[in-house]
Amino acid sequence: MPDLFSMNGRVAVVTGASRGLGLDFAKTLAGAGATVVCVARTQATLRAAVDGIVADGGTADAVAFDVTDEAALTTAVADIIARHGRIDVLVNNAGILYRTPVVETTTEDWRRVVDTDLTAAFMLSRAVGRHMLAQRYGRIVNIASVMGVLGRATVGGYVAAKHGLIGLTKTLAAELGPAITVNCLSPGYIRTELNVALQENREFSTMLETRTAAQRWGTSADLRGALLLLASDAGAYITGHSLVVDGGLTSILA
Ligand SMILES: NC(=O)c1ccc[n+]([C@@H]2O[C@H](COP(=O)([O-])OP(=O)(O)OC[C@H]3O[C@@H](n4cnc5c(N)ncnc54)[C@H](OP(=O)(O)O)[C@@H]3O)[C@@H](O)[C@H]2O)c1
Repeated sequence: MPDLFSMNGRVAVVTGASRGLGLDFAKTLAGAGATVVCVARTQATLRAAVDGIVADGGTADAVAFDVTDEAALTTAVADIIARHGRIDVLVNNAGILYRTPVVETTTEDWRRVVDTDLTAAFMLSRAVGRHMLAQRYGRIVNIASVMGVLGRATVGGYVAAKHGLIGLTKTLAAELGPAITVNCLSPGYIRTELNVALQENREFSTMLETRTAAQRWGTSADLRGALLLLASDAGAYITGHSLVVDGGLTSILA
């Protein structure tokens, strides 16, 4: 049974892998045997992340680029394939969020969020999808959010982008099958730098603890099983799906 989730011999690209959920995803895939190519913009933190994975006995590589930069992305994908021979798994995880009401949001900030959280996943899935079609194997895991199925004040661009990402996932599943699966992993509230403001908000934490069956914030460890399911052979017949991992948040009206 453990072979079902093995990543031995696989090459996985994880965007936003220098910290937070992406770093944990990279460690998880490396721990299961994959060669992991970690992507982020900031060289120093990315290097430290990769060094940490290697120190733990994993195989990892750092490729720094901005996922919203189409030219850089195109060059980077070609370089990764040249260097590692293939890309078996793409985890579109890099994401940003601004907290302002729609009526106070500049078009520039809206575009930055949609470019990072949605358009980059489209551009990377297009470039890597072509390669996966040619090699007749692939797993694409798009990191969406409970904000891909719910609305919430002050995060309009993020909510729109995550809803869009779930829609894009369904079309990619239709176009890239049968040998390539495309799914979303949609986390609830997991402690990272992205949501420090909410972690420090007692009222919000109380709401979360009451509304989730799990009665707590999530941790990045809570997502490991779902990631491995969607990234490995275990998930061969799962495609076009959004797997929500939220402690029950979107299922329960407390
Ligand atoms: N934390 C949660 O509760 C939660 C819940 C649901 C969904 N998510 C989703 O999970 C993903 C990761 O969130 P997180 O909480 O781990 O965020 P985080 O701690 O802020 O980390 C974001 C990562 O993305 C990278 N990144 C940001 N913009 C980039 C760009 N333009 N090009 C390349 N890399 C970029 C960052 O590195 P650089 O800044 O160096 O580029 C960093 O490695 C996001 O898509 C987020 O929407 C998170």
